[in-house]
Amino acid sequence: QPLATFDPGFVNTAVCHSSITYIDGEAGVLEYRGYPIADLAEHSTYLEVAYLLLHGELPNAAQLAQWELEVTEHRMLPDKLKTVLAGFPYDAHPMTILMASVAAFFSFYPDAQNFDDPDARYLNITRLIAKMPTLAAFAYRKGKAKPYINPDDSYGYCHNFLQMLFKQNERRYHADPRLIRAMEVLFILHADHEQNCSTNAVRSVASSGNDLFTSCSAGIGALHGPLHGGANEAVLKMLREIGSVDRVPEFIEGVKAGKTRMMGFGHRVYKNYDPRAKIIKKSVEDVFEVTGVNPLLRVALELEKHGLEDDYFVSRRLYPNVDFYSGLIYEALGFPPEMFTVLFAVPRTSGWAAQYQEFITDSEQKIVRPKQIYTGYQTRSYVPMEARD
Ligand code: CMC
Repeated sequence: QPLATFDPGFVNTAVCHSSITYIDGEAGVLEYRGYPIADLAEHSTYLEVAYLLLHGELPNAAQLAQWELEVTEHRMLPDKLKTVLAGFPYDAHPMTILMASVAAFFSFYPDAQNFDDPDARYLNITRLIAKMPTLAAFAYRKGKAKPYINPDDSYGYCHNFLQMLFKQNERRYHADPRLIRAMEVLFILHADHEQNCSTNAVRSVASSGNDLFTSCSAGIGALHGPLHGGANEAVLKMLREIGSVDRVPEFIEGVKAGKTRMMGFGHRVYKNYDPRAKIIKKSVEDVFEVTGVNPLLRVALELEKHGLEDDYFVSRRLYPNVDFYSGLIYEALGFPPEMFTVLFAVPRTSGWAAQYQEFITDSEQKIVRPKQIYTGYQTRSYVPMEARD
């Protein structure tokens, strides 16, 4: 047999042809279906972008209205899922709740197995995108021992999410429009990112013939890790541990000595400023206008300054990534750190669904089965128990 190419982390292996998301990591470019991320973040809503990812084109007004209606219709969770939620310990990580509940969706919607039927596929994609905010809000409120709040059909996707999370009483909930817009922008920026670790997990699990829900629950598991979606939670922890601007140089020395990593810095693909980080940095200002400034922002800005100037980071081409500033916004919006990765998973669902759909309809695809380079023993004689040391 010819020796397989050794490529840990698939750094140099393309596993698919894809027309969804384009990244030029050298130039710091990110486009969905050919549209620059900055334009989408400025002009679109999250559901518009989800439609774009799924259909390949931006919706016209009638198509968008229809899509919003379909998503709104499917926001409720199956009643019995509340029994599943009740079984988790009160301090269960919301990502664990999300992962298990999305897997459990398959038992409520077994028609997801008919993924070759475009109508069944579309229905289940709609269900998943519609229910993710509800699930995320329920997971959050369970941890706080607060009663669940059902979706309110009169609110848009992000506003409804905020009200399911934070509504304090029966009065209608009105979030500041600037906060709702910041949420839309964050959701747009997180919607897809081509063949990252979680998308690869979704495609791999789909490759053995799995439904959308089982495949996306694998994606949620992959996203949970601190080197992927969990980095935004890790950034806040890092900022809090550093605590003040005068302790930044000591922290940087620790990073250079290999004691720790600067979370929210570096990226497998971007060897330039992550275009999402640029947009988020602007949103930080908008959000802090409403909520007041988080003092940790000064620590983050100082870290970034060192990172952009210090030879250690410059020579390795390490720049702030999407997670560097997002945690500061999430905290200002009132989210506890364990919810940060959930706020990545909810919008990434549209990307996973688009990638799942592309995979399922791609005749080039096969079951994923990488090779290995075996380094163990050659064949040897079996040793009976009495003859073993
Ligand atoms: N802090 C300090 N050193 C770093 C960092 C960092 N954040 N990232 C990479 N390096 C160093 C690394 O030690 C290595 O140095 P050397 O060549 O001397 O051994 C060099 O840079 C290359 O690193 P790598 O680990 O081979 O790079 P990778 O492409 O495998 O890893 C990464 C990419 C994102 C996992 C990594 O940069 C990292 O751990 N960053 C911190 C975690 C983080 O912010 N993750 C979020 C990624 S963006 C959102 C997402 O995808 O979910």
